[in-house]
Amino acid sequence: MLNQVQYDKKIMEKDIFGKALLDYQLGNYSEDIITWTNISDKDELPLPYLFRDYSEMPKLERKALQLTKGKVLDVGCGSGSHALYLQEKGFEVKAIDISQGAIKVAKQRGVLDTECISLLDYSEEQFDTILLLMNGTGIFQEVQQVASYLKHLKSLLKPNGQLLIDSSDIKYMYEDEDGGRWLNLSGRYYGELDYYLSYKGEEETPMKWLYLDFEMLKTACLTVGLNCEKVMHGEHFDYLVRIKK
Ligand SMILES: C[S@@+](CC[C@H](N)C(=O)[O-])C[C@H]1O[C@@H](n2cnc3c(N)ncnc32)[C@H](O)[C@@H]1O
Repeated sequence: MLNQVQYDKKIMEKDIFGKALLDYQLGNYSEDIITWTNISDKDELPLPYLFRDYSEMPKLERKALQLTKGKVLDVGCGSGSHALYLQEKGFEVKAIDISQGAIKVAKQRGVLDTECISLLDYSEEQFDTILLLMNGTGIFQEVQQVASYLKHLKSLLKPNGQLLIDSSDIKYMYEDEDGGRWLNLSGRYYGELDYYLSYKGEEETPMKWLYLDFEMLKTACLTVGLNCEKVMHGEHFDYLVRIKK
């Protein structure tokens, strides 16, 4: 049985996400990433979106960047779009990601302090602001793990620090055309998805990806002594929270 960190490493062996980011960065953009889940059909994830600048970011992300203060940790930084913006504004930013390709790209784009490491493995410093953006709760993978991730994030916060995380309540994905719901209440939590990704014909090892509704996230925060407030709603059942000790 793999522990969490071994599991994270296993799913990153192929690093297809990182390869796609590198292709785009190196000017070899010819196709987008394809994603699908156990409850949804194939969809394109446009590579340019993963290199978005401030004006192209959804309003929740822009709000998170406006609320940022002090020393920053960008968790799951991807190509480094948020880190770069903040760095240019004068913030001291550390950007971490489990994908080697993503970290290479973030470095090439100019993010000064990067590290290829899984969140649960990182415990070097404490921060005033920790960002987890583009469905940040996805990194927690499943409900059972939320408390341990939150506890770990709490340990990385300075006394007055804040976590800024976005997520979505994806109940709507279980609705049929008549407005009826086919949620299986005795099954796993509806936001726990099996997530699949392919790029240029190569398929990534399936991952677990977690969407959390606000009440569930708030309750999980309370159980580990954190206070969670909703800052803003997005356009489509998504929301941004600020979590403090
Ligand atoms: C949906 S992407 C978001 C990337 C970036 N934040 C953005 O908004 O463009 C999620 C990122 O989290 C990274 N990731 C997943 N699990 C992680 C973990 N346990 N620790 C650090 N990064 C992780 C992935 O490699 C990926 O780059």
